Amino acid sequence: MRINEIIKSRRSVFTNQFSGEPIPREQIEEFLDLANWAPNHLHTEPWRFQVYSGNGLKDLMSHLAELYKKYTPEEKFSQAKMDKYAKRVDWVSHAIVINVHYDEKGRVPRIEESNAVACAVQNLWLAITQTKDIRGYWSTGSLVYTDDLAFWLRLQDNEKCMGIFYLGKLKEDAIQAHSTRRDVSEKTTWID
Ligand SMILES: Cc1cc2nc3c(=O)[nH]c(=O)nc-3n(C[C@H](O)[C@H](O)[C@H](O)COP(=O)(O)O)c2cc1C
Repeated sequence: MRINEIIKSRRSVFTNQFSGEPIPREQIEEFLDLANWAPNHLHTEPWRFQVYSGNGLKDLMSHLAELYKKYTPEEKFSQAKMDKYAKRVDWVSHAIVINVHYDEKGRVPRIEESNAVACAVQNLWLAITQTKDIRGYWSTGSLVYTDDLAFWLRLQDNEKCMGIFYLGKLKEDAIQAHSTRRDVSEKTTWID
């Protein structure tokens, strides 16, 4: 696939479209190596990845379920949402927790460190799009920004969680994901 096609066919594919089949570790390592080539200011390379699978994934999902219970007001609580955390263990191959590590000396504005991490995630996302059957998406939601999760993830004071990238192999009858964009001209100003 040419890069233009890869960019436009990259989709958020949700965990219920995954088969549960494991992705080989070497393949995950290759995606992470491509993520590692993202641009970054002053070579701080601020992305930090925690890769969960098997029992690790199970623990992560049960912790997120606990946090969901703790932080969701009773009137907003959905048992179906709660159950989804357990189901993800069966569907997902790997969950990559995406963290930013801010430069200890503060040489780079924090927004730039987060921007660099987002570039790394895009590299990973485009890389998986090249494959026949590996897909995923970047999941956030308010729980990922809690101190509770940061503690559980053992993040340092100068680190923040930016979300979780779920990866899996497409199931046979996976529904094709669609997406649209408003024309870029609506978001562009030309100053000649
Ligand atoms: C920083 C970031 C956070 C996101 N968080 C979520 C999320 O929590 N839940 C979700 O369903 N999608 C999430 N997404 C995926 C977007 O919903 C998705 O990219 C958007 O709908 C466009 O679809 P596409 O990726 O298939 O083009 C996130 C995307 C980004 C870039």
